[in-house]
Amino acid sequence: MPIVRKMSEIAVLGAGVVGLTTAVLLQSEIPDAKITVVADKFTIDTLSDGAAGIFRPGTSFSGPNPEITRQWLFDSYQHYYKIYKSSEAAKAGVIEASGYVYSKEFPEITKNHFLEGLLPVYRPATPSELKLCPGDWKYGAFFTTLVIESRYHLPWLTNKFEKAGGKVVIRNVERLDELAGQFDAAVNCTGFGAKKLCMDNKLVPIRGQVYKVKAPWVKMFFYGDYDTYIIPGVDYVTLGGSRHFDSYRKDWDDHDGAGILERCYEILPNLKQAEIVRKWSGLRPHRDPVRVEKEVLQVGNSTLKVVHNYGHGGYGVTTAPGTSKYAVALVKEFLENKISSKL
Ligand code: BEZ
Repeated sequence: MPIVRKMSEIAVLGAGVVGLTTAVLLQSEIPDAKITVVADKFTIDTLSDGAAGIFRPGTSFSGPNPEITRQWLFDSYQHYYKIYKSSEAAKAGVIEASGYVYSKEFPEITKNHFLEGLLPVYRPATPSELKLCPGDWKYGAFFTTLVIESRYHLPWLTNKFEKAGGKVVIRNVERLDELAGQFDAAVNCTGFGAKKLCMDNKLVPIRGQVYKVKAPWVKMFFYGDYDTYIIPGVDYVTLGGSRHFDSYRKDWDDHDGAGILERCYEILPNLKQAEIVRKWSGLRPHRDPVRVEKEVLQVGNSTLKVVHNYGHGGYGVTTAPGTSKYAVALVKEFLENKISSKL
């Protein structure tokens, strides 16, 4: 009798950059599996859409240990660089950008130990570069990196996923155990949604606000003190930002918005002429460390194999490929039965 192997069915929960990147990587790494993206928020309603998309992890970004964290960042940069160098770059919304990080008080803000070893250029700003923008900037760095524009990147990933046979289902999953019996494994890329799904007290919202403005004359990015940034993307420039730890407020705050404009106008006064096309506010899913790990849920007499991939804070776009590659390796371990249901 021929051996009939059942095709594995895998659900990816979440359709932000982490979910879609995971789904596409699963297709290439486990080609004989059936992958379904299950989500209730897509494209402009995801956190990814608010992000400026610049490849710049915060210095406190943290995986389970320094080696794995560095590997995630290395893999992420390589992944995006490969797209940037390919004929798909424009469709995928991956562009190169250069710019400055300035500070009046804090030299440490201009350093980034992750990027210094990874990017082609990361160097101190020269005295004349410190005078490029108004303000008495004392410290600065110049670097060249990539910007991944979610408005292009998410549809590009979705298209790639569907073309390769992937299915997208609109569904609000209230509990992970709903999926037991329906899928062999699930990858949890629900961002802040994981707070409720996993009762995870380590997952903390960091409220943020940004503007998207039309300012095609802005060709470089600029960071200033107090979470200030001006980041040109493909069509718009993102002006940010704000960072409110453990704040659950999702709606726009005019006072925070006025502060963002004031700080950005100080760096580039001609932004006062820019048309505002969108105001975005939301919650970054911060977790230390970012959770990429396996869990086996017992659901009655059956089990559900879950790989978590959430808690990227404001660095979901930056680090999605690296954490997703790691998550996909854990799914493979699950499917190859390398481990027992106890982990
Ligand atoms: C940030 O400033 O880190 C951010 C803003 C909007 C969405 C995601 C991240």
